[in-house]
Amino acid sequence: MNKLKWLLAGCLIAGTAHFSHAQNRTISVKADKLLADVQPTMYGVFFEDINFGADGGIYAELIKNRSFEFFKPMMGWKVLGKPVEGDFLIEARREKNTANPRFLKVKLRNNKKGSIGLANEGFRGMGIQKNLRYDFSLMYKRTGAPVTIHIALVGGSGNQIGESPITLNNTNGKWEKISGTVTSADSANKGSFNLWFEGDGEVELDMISLFPSNTWKQRPGGMRADMIQILADMKPGFLRFPGGCIVEGFDLSQRYQWKKTIGPVEERQMVINRWNFEFAHRPTPDYFQTFGLGFFEYFQLSEDIGAEPLPILNCGMACQFNSAEVVPIDELGPYVQDALDLIEFANGDANTKWGKVRIELGHTKPFNLKMLGIGNENWGPQYLERLKIFSKAIKEKYPQIKLINSSGTDPVGERYEYLNKELRAMNADIIDEHYYRRPEWFLQNAQRYDSFPRTGVKVFAGEYAAQSDKTVSINNKNNWQTALSEAAFLTGLERNADIVVMASYAPLFAHTDAWQWSPDLIWVDNLHVTATPNYYVQKLFSLNKGTNVVSALTDNKVIAGRDSLFASAVIDKNTKELIVKLVNVSGAAQILDIDISGAKKLAKKGELTILQSGAMQALNVVGQAETIVPVTKSINLKGKRVSVSTDPYSLTILKIKMS
Ligand code: AHR
Repeated sequence: MNKLKWLLAGCLIAGTAHFSHAQNRTISVKADKLLADVQPTMYGVFFEDINFGADGGIYAELIKNRSFEFFKPMMGWKVLGKPVEGDFLIEARREKNTANPRFLKVKLRNNKKGSIGLANEGFRGMGIQKNLRYDFSLMYKRTGAPVTIHIALVGGSGNQIGESPITLNNTNGKWEKISGTVTSADSANKGSFNLWFEGDGEVELDMISLFPSNTWKQRPGGMRADMIQILADMKPGFLRFPGGCIVEGFDLSQRYQWKKTIGPVEERQMVINRWNFEFAHRPTPDYFQTFGLGFFEYFQLSEDIGAEPLPILNCGMACQFNSAEVVPIDELGPYVQDALDLIEFANGDANTKWGKVRIELGHTKPFNLKMLGIGNENWGPQYLERLKIFSKAIKEKYPQIKLINSSGTDPVGERYEYLNKELRAMNADIIDEHYYRRPEWFLQNAQRYDSFPRTGVKVFAGEYAAQSDKTVSINNKNNWQTALSEAAFLTGLERNADIVVMASYAPLFAHTDAWQWSPDLIWVDNLHVTATPNYYVQKLFSLNKGTNVVSALTDNKVIAGRDSLFASAVIDKNTKELIVKLVNVSGAAQILDIDISGAKKLAKKGELTILQSGAMQALNVVGQAETIVPVTKSINLKGKRVSVSTDPYSLTILKIKMS
């Protein structure tokens, strides 16, 4: 059996094999042999509203179905007390308000506090933190005397942990927004919210909302700070949004339309989330897109975390796994216009229609959009036909914008071969490749790009994740085996940074009680955020991406699997560091002698960061989030030959200051 096969069968499948070497292996690193620039965009994040990623996830709104627009208008709500039939009515003003037609009309009968009310269950409960202020708001319409509502935070066992009265004073019969606050006396991972009525007569309610006050950058109606912080910690080079299949929609009526996601939240028309019903084995009937997070917020988020914004737009095709609807070519115009308008929205000045809209939304400076994706996982001649129309129109007006093109769903096979060939013939800017594959595939493909043409066409590893089981299987786990194989693969992307300009793991977030797809980079519940080993791999590559790839060879060959080792090396011109990444996928420690040339002088101390586990099935889970975390230590250096002992099943990053 050859070494690679042994490795796959022995190490990765059983996870127990051992390996020993008589001799240390030497890796020659030439710090002055610059092979390619590493793009600042190299490692980024892929965001999609899947697994409660946006609603119930980074969008910090705690009230589920706040405007009663879910298919079942009272989903998530429960009436408290004993109203008379007809006292709680859903009214729909479809003629007057197409975006937000429904509201709740409540009839009060001289009610005392605590006699009648509403409860909201949140997104699989509400995360409530002790001593934190919560910001409440609703829209109401009322005539007659003012009524009082009492808002209450409720703990996991039904105990009230915060209460506040708000009087609805405006009785002129017009819709008005009112706000209030309530502070929690306790924490709850599965809390809920009650709203009690006191008074008489009718009151109409809509957009009932509750946010924690500690949102990201304290923005009212903003994002969950702990979830954004963990992204910021990766220093991602780009933020791809809003997906993913969500861009395509089950059919074209459910496609993502960015213009409907900006402006006042009460005017953003809700759409069923395609992950609501995508998998019969993971139904999520309470999953809708409220678009409380829209394109303005995604651009702003990109800016906040220092990532290049990368919006992906629908190309006139619905998901080809679903309805596969395509828009007729003679009706593609509005789709193309949406793309042109988006560029203007992001970059235009006050004299442009859409630039003005952005400025009115509060962002004077342009967002400096440089790239745009046309289509998600679309394929076939029908895709190319539409893509060409988009490309022509965009390049004519905005030649500097780089376009991301789809190569379908798989990194191999007929669909891929066809698109890859055609897109290269079209001289595409960047081709988006997706790999949801077994860990063995990631190891075997660490050299995938070594033989790719150096023609100018770039690659975006737009969605990748090693699957411990089969793609979309619910048994997929973010175990160390998957993360380690991704680390090995990333050394191959890095070595080929002249053509691979971006990489992102997918999906990004998953709620432990509401996921549809596994594995995922970061798992959350209502109060906790858990980084997977895969997250740490992506983060370590991102934080150590350097500025230039340099030569790292053993016996004059790239290090991509032989003797269970994978390696790449970069220098960082800004910090004057040499960074060597070593991935040992064998079950034995391997001592590597790293011979460094091309640097005048090396510091006397270096830094080793190690991510490692002896157990290939090991996981980080809520409550045990630190099973696999990076550990950094310093090593003494003497001269230009550094001996590094890499642990079994480990990613080791060696960093040395040079001059
Ligand atoms: O990441 C989950 C899904 O995988 C994405 O929505 C889609 O692009 C791919 O099929």
